[in-house]
Amino acid sequence: MYQNIITDQSNGILVVTINRPEKLNALNKAVIEELAEAVYQVHTNDEIRAAIITGAGAKAFVAGADISEFTQLDGEGGRKLAKKGQDEVFDRIENCPKPIVAAVNGFALGGGCELAMACHFRVASSNAKFGQPEVNLGLIPGYGGTQRLTQLIGKGKAMELMMTGGIIDAEEAYRLGLVNYITEPANLIPKVRELLGLILTKAPLAIGKVVELVNLAAIGDPEGLEKEIVAFGELFNTEDMKEGATAFLEKRKAIFAGK
Ligand code: COA
Repeated sequence: MYQNIITDQSNGILVVTINRPEKLNALNKAVIEELAEAVYQVHTNDEIRAAIITGAGAKAFVAGADISEFTQLDGEGGRKLAKKGQDEVFDRIENCPKPIVAAVNGFALGGGCELAMACHFRVASSNAKFGQPEVNLGLIPGYGGTQRLTQLIGKGKAMELMMTGGIIDAEEAYRLGLVNYITEPANLIPKVRELLGLILTKAPLAIGKVVELVNLAAIGDPEGLEKEIVAFGELFNTEDMKEGATAFLEKRKAIFAGK
């Protein structure tokens, strides 16, 4: 079904691997189309409970948007490219009520860093490298980088990285809070699976609300606290809340149905 990505589903987790290793998994139009479909599947397919996004090969997660497609674009073309990617891929990843984690296995530059940042959190292999080098091309990030990098690492460091086009290694990314863990390359996917395995034992509707509310905090929504009160109340109407509280009182493990 897909030509540019590989999907593999097991134990409720969909692994989406961007598969253009000879071009360091650069995001061309076709990859964006296929990622949009895969993300749609994560949202709508009940058998998929979580997803991992990674890149094929040992060298790159994603080395950016495909620069070879840039020379044909004018202003309107550039705007449409950013809009389509943001609407159909990056924003949908960020707002997915099911956990989506980036397993960053090498270069995550430009659109690659943005793809990793759209995920709910990131785990990096020790060879990962991050950066937003668009200024080298006369551009700025267009898949959410100006906003999400600032949210994740703060204004000063985000300014510096985007103004210099500098590239940082996994240790620096960890220090800045851009990634949550660093692993040896061979342990990258197992580590992400372990984290998702833990998350998947929790109440799915509560996880969805965590995504929604934390994303509101990240954009500084002034009604975030009010919306937290509403969401907290809504969860009291769920079967899972009753199961979770009852299981605690009965000193047994809760079994959540996502209802
Ligand atoms: N778009 C299109 N093609 C890309 C690409 C991108 N973003 N990044 C890498 N490639 C291609 C290269 O053109 C090359 O193709 P070729 O073998 O047909 O010439 C292939 O991937 C391998 O890349 P190469 O540059 O030879 O590898 P390297 O190890 O010397 O350098 C990078 C690795 C990541 C430092 C370098 O590829 C790079 O700077 N890429 C662009 C990063 C960027 O600016 N991203 C933001 C885009 S908005």
